[in-house]
Amino acid sequence: MSDSILHTMGQQLGRRSWAEPWKIKMVEPLRVIGQEERQHAMKDAGYNTFLLRSEDVYIDLLTDSGTSAMSDRQWAGMMLGDEAYAGSRNFYHLEEAVRDYYGYKYIVPTHQGRGAEHLINQTVIKQGQFVPGNMYFTTTRLHQELAGGIFVDVIIKEAHDPNDLHPFKGNVDLDKLETLFKERGVENIAYVSLAGTVNMAGGQPVSMANVKALRGLCDRYGVAIYLDATRMFENAYFIQQREEGYANKSVAEILKEFCQYTDGAWMSAKKDNLVNIGGWLAVNDYELFDQLRNLVVIYEGLHTYGGMAGRDMEAVAIGIAEGVQDDQVRARVGQVEYLGTLLLDWEIPIVKPVGGHAIFLDARAFYPHIPQDEFPAQTLAAQLYTDSGVRGMERGIVSAGRDPDTGEHRYPALELMRLAIPRRVYTQAHMDVVAEGVKTVYDSREATRGLKMVYEPKYLRFFQARFEAQ
Ligand code: F0G
Repeated sequence: MSDSILHTMGQQLGRRSWAEPWKIKMVEPLRVIGQEERQHAMKDAGYNTFLLRSEDVYIDLLTDSGTSAMSDRQWAGMMLGDEAYAGSRNFYHLEEAVRDYYGYKYIVPTHQGRGAEHLINQTVIKQGQFVPGNMYFTTTRLHQELAGGIFVDVIIKEAHDPNDLHPFKGNVDLDKLETLFKERGVENIAYVSLAGTVNMAGGQPVSMANVKALRGLCDRYGVAIYLDATRMFENAYFIQQREEGYANKSVAEILKEFCQYTDGAWMSAKKDNLVNIGGWLAVNDYELFDQLRNLVVIYEGLHTYGGMAGRDMEAVAIGIAEGVQDDQVRARVGQVEYLGTLLLDWEIPIVKPVGGHAIFLDARAFYPHIPQDEFPAQTLAAQLYTDSGVRGMERGIVSAGRDPDTGEHRYPALELMRLAIPRRVYTQAHMDVVAEGVKTVYDSREATRGLKMVYEPKYLRFFQARFEAQ
């Protein structure tokens, strides 16, 4: 049936639904434990959802990272793994896929995103240089800091307001960036760290106009731009939907145009590329590539596998071609929006507009009576798990960590609890159950008390910190 006939049918029905461009071939049974057991499990886990056992979780929205369902084609590709130590044919397939779809020249495989972050930052940052970026990401900033860099947030101010409806809240504030260039001197800027669908801002996209203007500014000052391409398919989809002039372009075309304004990218293939493990780094400059290719053998593995098995690289190569399809991204972002709409209909405070990979509950608005240093978002994640077995993650003061100079907590403007939706895993019915769980927790918000941190690891504390009830 042609698109136009479908469209006419949709208009006659007064609506136009989308459905996933796949059907389910294999299922994994879920187990639900009782509320009392969940209470014990949460307490034993120190009120940190990262420390729960997954078998005690009913619907797992901890992350969309490495949790995708692979397709039959990807699984078939796993059987084509060429497990040679050097020169695996799957590496060349991966290289070709990154070149074709993202457009970069040289590719270095890594075991996952943070492996790539480590290599690029160790290579391009000199001690004491500034790294401006459109909001921090936990592992990204840590690798920048460990390489001697100082992260500076240059995202537009609208990104810090959960209720601001700006369509591209991931945009870089170019005036702020130029001021930084002038005040610090470009020799003290390592590069611009640009992320698509900014995770910590609520999955908010960057517009094509913004990246184009950023390129112009950086060219004038001679500064490189490296892209965190982790969720760029979703960013490209938002450009198609929201930015003038892109409605008739495919996600793949938009992606390639966007990447063209950057000098390279690092990637957690565990997200958009639809695999359970993997990553890559890609650059256009041969000299830089040469350094990265040398460094990868120390930390990840030979430059033709970088920590991945041949079969994993095959799955990434196929995942890139699948994940970038318009209908795939539409269904993915559509499911996130479906959950968001259910919550908005109940006037539950979430980050707006709804982002690409997750719903972010605004824990400040949930619990105005819980001060930030009693961890409102951590509390909310614990409450939701206990109520319904749904697992989310804190994205607020615990994730922000401490200032390396003062040792004080960083107090981010956004105190959020994230419900990240794995790709191709859950159904609309699961989303209904999640929404009802959130509603129950919202309805009992006034009686909820905060938490006290009783164990705090040095790096990326949110993963392993432990809490007690107040
Ligand atoms: N960049 C972004 C924007 C990410 O979201 C992540 C991971 C990484 C880099 C690091 O990649 O996990 O493959 O080493 N984000 C996950 C999450 C962990 O749950 O958001 P990685």
